[in-house]
Amino acid sequence: MKYQSQKVAYAYFMVAMGLFAIQVLGGLLAGWIYVWPNTLSELLPFNIVRMLHTNALIVWLLLGFFGAAYYLVPEESERELFSVKLAYIQLAILVVGTLGAVGSYLVGIHGGREFLEQPLWVKFGILVAAVIFLVNISLTVLAGRKTAITNILLMGLWLLSLLWIFAFINPDNLSLDKMYWWFVVHLWVEATWELVMAAILGYLMLKLTGVDREVVEKWLYVIVALALFSGILGTGHHFFWIGTPGYWQWIGSIFSTLEVIPFFAMMSFAFIMVWKGRKNHPNKAALLWSLGASTVAFFGAGVWGFLHTLHGVNYYTHGTQITAAHGHLAFYGAYVAMNLAMFTYAMPQLKNRDPYNQVLNMASFWLMTGGMAFMTFVLTFAGTIQTHMQRIVGDYFMDVQDQLGLFYLMRLGSGAVVVLGALLFIYATVVVRREVIKPGPVAVPGE
Ligand code: HEM
Ligand code: HEM
Ligand SMILES: [Fe+2]
Repeated sequence: MKYQSQKVAYAYFMVAMGLFAIQVLGGLLAGWIYVWPNTLSELLPFNIVRMLHTNALIVWLLLGFFGAAYYLVPEESERELFSVKLAYIQLAILVVGTLGAVGSYLVGIHGGREFLEQPLWVKFGILVAAVIFLVNISLTVLAGRKTAITNILLMGLWLLSLLWIFAFINPDNLSLDKMYWWFVVHLWVEATWELVMAAILGYLMLKLTGVDREVVEKWLYVIVALALFSGILGTGHHFFWIGTPGYWQWIGSIFSTLEVIPFFAMMSFAFIMVWKGRKNHPNKAALLWSLGASTVAFFGAGVWGFLHTLHGVNYYTHGTQITAAHGHLAFYGAYVAMNLAMFTYAMPQLKNRDPYNQVLNMASFWLMTGGMAFMTFVLTFAGTIQTHMQRIVGDYFMDVQDQLGLFYLMRLGSGAVVVLGALLFIYATVVVRREVIKPGPVAVPGE
């Protein structure tokens, strides 16, 4: 760590990891309720638990992105942050907003639009925090060295903040309501967040593999162009059945199929950089997370996304457990694991503990990734049976759910493994054990 102001990232990463723990524990509780439905039904009903699970996810991923930007921009721009104070004020606003949202969910106040349930004042707080962030980071970048990594990171963060405006527009017309909702949800994870992911991955590859900056930059520009070209019109895969014109079925199917390519490119990029790089960086755990993230993102977003993206298929699978299987693996691979890669790289430096013992961190990678893969397979089987019974045979929703009990039990089991891995990761990253270097045998003169 070269610049003092990079330290603010530490506070962001710590809050992010706290919410990460709450998120996965909330998921575990939701999975438990699927198996024993009356659990806490009065005190903390399923819809509230689910809201805490998905909202905590989004907020901690964003905090991770902000922290990553505060960590890598000073190094890339070769200067201190414009204002450390503003960065802490931004974090304080986001923490107050998060507590406000949690408090209002617990007493049953929420907006009811999935992922965007926050009360209006919290949405407004998020907007203010985003503006503070953009000012702070943009002034830093403008005053310093400009690189492809900071350009792409900034472009992603500016665009995703602008899209947040659609969270405020909720028309009475149900078709328009859905369209604007997807402008946030889809254009975040399948366009703007991809730019952030590519920038962080590019930075990590630069640091961990020692490949030339020009090579990294060429890959990044290609990935970004592919992501935007496919992702923007790819939004059409959510316009099949919401009352929009029929041509969206073809636009959505074709362009969202092309969305697989940037995810494939990001995976290829990571492996080729590691293969070509000459550097033997001591932080192997960060490398494992970087390769793992880009690989699982390709499977979760690319393969499991394509699985149900053609309108002829989606007609049957829409809103089934197939969707949940895809949602879990895609979010985990692309955004959870990429954030954890950044934490794994930066935390030992922020704590001045490099080189450190990475065994527990790597174990947590395999626990989480294995658990998530198993959960995805289980939900995919459940979704296949559900699609057949409900959409082809025409059985009733609840009758079908009764047949899926075994799968929900296995989802709960694999979820417990994910939670174990997540807690282990947090322990390994917050405590950061030093590498104990045992002294070798001492040569005795004369022997
Ligand atoms: C990292 C990137 C991605 C993430 C995080 C992600 C996440 C999600 C989530 C959470 C949902 C459920 C939304 C809801 O109804 O509440 C969803 C739906 C969907 N996703 Fe993705 N996705 C990603 C990329 C992709 C890609 C690349 C494709 C296509 C190749 C795709 C195809 C779909 C389709 C077709 C649906 C609608 C499912 C339905 O009709 O129920 N996704 N995605
Ligand atoms: C880092 C890991 C996780 C991520 C990224 C994640 C992400 C998500 C997302 C995006 C949704 C909404 C899905 C949709 O609309 O299709 C969701 C719902 C859910 N998640 Fe997770 N989750 C994680 C961990 C867990 C764990 C460990 C469990 C434990 C069993 C779990 C259980 C659930 C349940 C039960 C739902 C509600 C599904 C429904 O409404 O049918 N999740 N999660
Ligand atoms: Fe989408």
